[in-house]
Amino acid sequence: MKVPQLDLKAQYALLREEIEAAILRVLRSQKFILGEEVEGLEREIAAYTGSAHAVACASGTDALLLALMALDVGPGDEVITSPFTFFSTAGCIHRLGAKPVFVDIDPQTFDLNLNELPRRINSRTRAIVPVHLYGRLAPMAEILEMAAHCQVPVVEDAAQALGARSGGCMAGAFGAMGCYSFYPTKNLGGAGDGGLVVTSDARLAERMRRLRAHGSEGAYHHSEVGLNSRLDEIQAAVLRVKLGCLEGWNRARQEHAAAYTRALDGAVRTPAPAPGGSHVYHQYVIRTPDRGGLRRRLAERGVETAVYYPAPLHQQKCFAYLGHRAGDFPEAEAAAREVLALPIYPELTGEARDYVAGVVTEWAAVRAAPARFEHLRI
Ligand SMILES: Cc1ncc(COP(=O)(O)O)c(C=O)c1O
Repeated sequence: MKVPQLDLKAQYALLREEIEAAILRVLRSQKFILGEEVEGLEREIAAYTGSAHAVACASGTDALLLALMALDVGPGDEVITSPFTFFSTAGCIHRLGAKPVFVDIDPQTFDLNLNELPRRINSRTRAIVPVHLYGRLAPMAEILEMAAHCQVPVVEDAAQALGARSGGCMAGAFGAMGCYSFYPTKNLGGAGDGGLVVTSDARLAERMRRLRAHGSEGAYHHSEVGLNSRLDEIQAAVLRVKLGCLEGWNRARQEHAAAYTRALDGAVRTPAPAPGGSHVYHQYVIRTPDRGGLRRRLAERGVETAVYYPAPLHQQKCFAYLGHRAGDFPEAEAAAREVLALPIYPELTGEARDYVAGVVTEWAAVRAAPARFEHLRI
C-alpha cells in the first residue's frame, strides 16, 4: 500500500467546486490586494480565535516579523524561543538585529522547559516566543505567569496550531499576539503562502496594519519603514472556504492520533497525552533511537514519513555567531535525532493508518526480539 505523508489532492477533491468558485469571484472582481476577502478572513479568524483583531500578511514568517516589529524589537534586544522549531521562529528575531536566546525543550512535549525559562529572562529580554510545535498547545498559563512577573510580552508562534485550545482559549489568543501560517501543508493551508497575526490590543493591530504596507499612514506618507507583506485576495478567498472545515479536520486528525497512539504505545515513544482539544496534530510525531531503521522499513512498505526537524537551530551555521556548542541544548539535540512524523491528515483512511501502525509495530517487535532471532533484525 502507498501512504503519502500528506495528500492535499484528496482535500482539494472534496472542495474543488467551492474553491474554484471563490477564486473566480476574485478574478472577476479584479481586486487583488487588501479587499473584501482579506477583510472577511480577518473578521472570521478574529471571531474564531476570540481575538479582537486579526491582521493578515504574506506568510507565517512575516506574521512573526510584524509582531516583533510592533513590539519595537531591535538591536541590543534578546528574544527567548525554542531551539527546536522551524527556522523562521529564530530567523525573524535575527533579521530585526536582536539576539535569539534559546531555552531547551521539555522532552515530553517539545515545549519550552519551564524550569529553564526564568533563568534566561533579563533586562534585555523584549519578548518570549513559545512555539505550539506540531499543533500542541504550549503550557500558556505558566509561561504567561512568568512573563507577566517580568513584564515581558509573549508572542505565540501558533503557525502549526490554529484551532488548538485549552480552557476556552485558542492557541494564538493567549499572549500579546499570536502568529499563524497558511502555508499549504498547514491544518488551514492556502493555495500559496499566507499568514496572520491576532491580538486584542488595538494599538498593536493598527501598527501591524501600517507595517505590512511599508509603514504608510495614508498613501505615500510613511511614519516608519515597514514591509510589503499583504495577503492576496485569492489566498483569502480560498482560506475562507477552508476555514469552515477546520474544526472537522482537526477532529479527524485527533481521531487518527488517538488510534495511532493506541496501536503504537509500547512499540515506539508516542506523543504525550494532550487533554481536550489542546493538540490539533499538525504532525503526529513518534520517537525512536533507530529512526533511520524505522524510516527505511516504512519506505520499503510504501509509507512516506518526514523529519521535523533534523537539526536544532543553535547548531545552524547561520547562528554560529551565538557561540553554542553540541550539548548546550541536549533535549533539542536528542529530539532532532529521534523524531519521525507519520502520515496524518483528515482524509487519511482508517485502513491506511492501521497499515502504517502495523508496519511500525512489526518493526518494533522484530527489533525487540531476543538474540536468537538476530538474523531477522532489520
Ligand atoms: C513553527 C513555525 N513557525 C513559523 C513558520 C513560518 O510560516 P511560513 O512558512 O508561512 O512563513 C512555520 C511554517 O512553516 C512553522 O511551522
